[in-house]
Amino acid sequence: MEDAAVQSEGRSGGIVINDGWPGYSLDLFSYPAHYSGDLDCVFIPHGVITDRTERLARNIMDDLGDHDIVVLCVLKGGYQFCVDLVDRIKALSRNSNRTIPMRVHFIRLKSYLNDQSTEDLHILGAEDLSFLAGKNVLIVEAIVGTGKTMETLLKHVEAFRPKMIKVAGLLVKRVPHNTACLPDYVGFEIPDRFVVGYALDYNEYFRDLDHICVISENGKMKYKIEKEGLQKEANVIQQKA
Ligand code: HPA
Ligand code: MG
Repeated sequence: MEDAAVQSEGRSGGIVINDGWPGYSLDLFSYPAHYSGDLDCVFIPHGVITDRTERLARNIMDDLGDHDIVVLCVLKGGYQFCVDLVDRIKALSRNSNRTIPMRVHFIRLKSYLNDQSTEDLHILGAEDLSFLAGKNVLIVEAIVGTGKTMETLLKHVEAFRPKMIKVAGLLVKRVPHNTACLPDYVGFEIPDRFVVGYALDYNEYFRDLDHICVISENGKMKYKIEKEGLQKEANVIQQKA
């Protein structure tokens, strides 16, 4: 990636992808035919994601080796990153004297409609996290935007008094109102563009795409949900109940 500069320290902010990065032409990679016309470019190829994840696993192993951890996977967007990260940590545990015994737990957050964050953040599956008391927790998230979601989630998890909380985020977006809340392990720092693939969705589409791509205007139109439509749907469900 000619526009991507690898930070020399290799730790803090991850691989920086500059604002001018045009991505790769879709013709250079394979992707599902059902998304043809719906994408602008391949922003981060799948192989680069997995290679970077392997290094993050090593950093986590260096810091947390021999500690028991509870991995808290933030669904749905985080599932692929979590699976790959846990797999790499497992491989390192198999092949060295240091190991990380892991438990995996899932919670679900929802706040996006189309490509816009909505005010109401829902945390599902997080009702009783009391088993986190005294534990080392690794929160695994696909993407961190303003950091508001992460702040809310951290507060929620902290209330259960874990011994330690670390956060791994595959992507951190450079957005105007970024709070100071940054993950401890970052895969890539990216421009403020709406990306899909590698389990990241646009209205539930594109999770079945391996590369991280930029959605096209055509794709946004095709899979758009009208807010009124959603409201109507909610009303119908309420009436039926
Ligand atoms: N893509 C998908 N989901 C998201 C994004 C994004 O760029 N930002 C926050 N949630
Ligand atoms: Mg989403």
